[in-house]
Formats: sequence, structure tokens, C-alpha cells
Amino acid sequence: MELHIAETREDLVERMARAAAEWIGAHPGSLVCLAAGDTPLPVYARLVALQAEGRVDLASVFYAGLDEWVGLGPADAGSCLQVMRDAFYEPAGIPADRRRVFDGLADPATECRAMERWIEAHGGIRFTLLGIGINGHVGFNEPGAPDGEGCLVVALDDITQTVGVKYFDRERTLQQGVTVGLRSLSKAEIVFLMATGERKADIVGRMLSGDPAVPASRLLPHPGLRIYLDREAAGRL
Ligand code: GLP
Repeated sequence: MELHIAETREDLVERMARAAAEWIGAHPGSLVCLAAGDTPLPVYARLVALQAEGRVDLASVFYAGLDEWVGLGPADAGSCLQVMRDAFYEPAGIPADRRRVFDGLADPATECRAMERWIEAHGGIRFTLLGIGINGHVGFNEPGAPDGEGCLVVALDDITQTVGVKYFDRERTLQQGVTVGLRSLSKAEIVFLMATGERKADIVGRMLSGDPAVPASRLLPHPGLRIYLDREAAGRL
């Protein structure tokens, strides 16, 4: 495991974007799994800028979406699909046949099987960039959720439902998520986990102490885990 702590968020974003661009450049045709959420969006913006500077071809790899709120679709502001389409896939010019994201309006179990087939057809996830929830979730691998193979339909934790309101422009009642499971993510060679801001400091501290109640702790033994924190998120280490 590598732990990278940057003094500023800008520095953190720059380091992560350059490292991700370098990996993508060296692994054309590989499958990359990207988290939505607020935290990684500046990294995606920087990757798009690096591409505009001719320093990476982001369409040289394939993409799998990490997770989605069951019940939300492309027209819903705050769905992972909408966020990733507008913040990354469209500005990066990723063709539709190079990406697959969960459809939160479709039957969740069927969506999971379809995503598993996509992952399998592209040789498994080789690189993933993840965030961490206030409750320690990764994607929607919630505390107490089963650690099964493939993709999962998960009952959302109360904290996830409460924190989730920040993404939406109106009130939502969302009780389930679909996610790539931790075991599939753990098969990636490189796992970037990113956290910024003081509000993530407690959960990052608990994760790094190996707290078994924190789903992200299960990534700690992974030899390719690279944790990227700004100074605030590293405040309880
Ligand atoms: C969200 C998503 C995750 C995300 C995490 C942190 O609910 N399900 O994929 O990484 O929680 O989100 P944020 O970066 O907005 O704090």
C-alpha cells in the first residue's frame, strides 16, 4: 500500500491525474472502473485537460461505472450515470461502446449480471479510482453488505441515504444501490482511493486502523492500493 498525502487539493488532483494518465497510456484496451461522487470530479476534469494537451488518449481504454442509485436514470440530476456522463465520458469523448454504466431504472439484478458480463468480456477491472463514504462504503459496498463475487444489489445504509441528499436537486427516497462488489474491485492491479476534506478525516483514520466495520478496510491488504489524501482528510492519522 502507498499513502500519498498532499498539502493542497490541487497538488493531490495533479498527482492523481498524472498517475492515472500514465497508467492508461501504458495499458491500452484495459478496463478501468471509475467512481462518481463529488471527490474525484476534479481528477476527471484534469484528465480531460491532459488529453486536450495531447498527453493521454482516454478512449484507449474501456470503462465500467462503479455504482448507481436504484430508481435513478440518465435524466435524473445526481444519478451516477448523469454525473459521469457530464463530468467525464462526454468531455473526454469516450465512445458509447467503450463504456458501461449501471442503469438505475432497469431491474437491478439483471443490471448486475449485465455489468458482470461487461467486466468479464474486457478481462476484468485492472485499474479503479474510488472514493470513500462517510460510513466507509466503497461504491455501494455498505457496512454489513455481503462480500460476494461480481456485482451486488445493496440495501442503502441510513448514513448513505442522509448524505446522498447532497447530490439531488429535489427530495428522493432511495433505498437500494447497485455496485461492483469489493471482490471484483480487489482483482484490479491498481486501486486508487481518494479522500479530501475534514469531513472524511474520521473514516479515513478508522479505515487505516483496519476497523473491520469499515468496508474500505478490506482493501488494505491489496498490494496495489494507493491512498490519496489531502491534509484535512489525513487529519486523524
Ligand atoms: C457515494 C457513492 C460512492 C462515492 C462515495 C463518496 O454515495 N456511492 O461511489 O465514492 O459515496 O462520495 P463523495 O465523493 O461525494 O464524498
